Amino acid sequence: MKIVRTVSEWRLWCEEARRAKQSIGLVPTMGALHAGHLALVQAAQSENDVVVLTIFVNPTQFTNQEDLEKYPRPEEADCAAAEAAGVDLLVIPTVKEVWPVFPPPVTYQAGPLGDRFEGADRPGHFTGVAQVVRRLFEITGECRAYFGEKDYQQVAVVREMVRTLDLDAEVKTIPTVRAEDGLALSSRNIRLSPAGRVRALAFSTALREYSAGGAAVIEAAARHTLEVAGVEVSYAAVVDNQSLQRVSPDYVGPARLLLAGVVDGVRLLDNGPVVVGSEDAVSN
Ligand code: PAF
Repeated sequence: MKIVRTVSEWRLWCEEARRAKQSIGLVPTMGALHAGHLALVQAAQSENDVVVLTIFVNPTQFTNQEDLEKYPRPEEADCAAAEAAGVDLLVIPTVKEVWPVFPPPVTYQAGPLGDRFEGADRPGHFTGVAQVVRRLFEITGECRAYFGEKDYQQVAVVREMVRTLDLDAEVKTIPTVRAEDGLALSSRNIRLSPAGRVRALAFSTALREYSAGGAAVIEAAARHTLEVAGVEVSYAAVVDNQSLQRVSPDYVGPARLLLAGVVDGVRLLDNGPVVVGSEDAVSN
């Protein structure tokens, strides 16, 4: 595995791969690698000749300075994990390399899709995500890029940006990877206390055992499950799979249940498929 820290080495490596007719799978991360990231690497390996993994804690997507400062950065363990997973190029650039001018100019606004849910709680977050993902795509060049469904809204924003700007990247997703007890894997989980980790299980419980009925019933039941466990709920929303608009009260059919809340001061997200308007209580 080659490790580079500069944009010029990264760009050159990708150009050489393309010249050798090798397809590139890009796995963008902010590090603190876990099994979810390694599943992205595996998916990228199965469809491409080479895999580029980036580790960059992008300041422009953080709306809270403390969150940015506390974001875990276990570089040595990350290098070992990437190497063991068979990554070909590991990119660990500095902020100065990615953003020579800081703050960088905003040339794409995430728009209404990025203003809801996570975007409403963290204004500007998705514009920052789109900004850095566009930059990663621009440096890497033509590639397939891999994202986890855990960040469902992020994927929707990135897909929309790729479509709008006609970028040379194919967005691919993999299902959320969970711990044995159901907790969705996230780099933030290591900040949970043992008791907080137990409380956080309410997210996967709410998704697994969602209530029968219309969207409002499903949302209220999920909110209840989270609140009873002691989660400070940000939102529990049943949305259209593509537009991420809240479904209408009389909607019947497949949708996505988006959940977010805070445990131990740590913001957690989860989501899963639901069938709205079903008669029976469902267990995924
Ligand atoms: O999901 C993440 O880890 C980040 O938002 C991403 C896509 C790497 C952009 O910084």
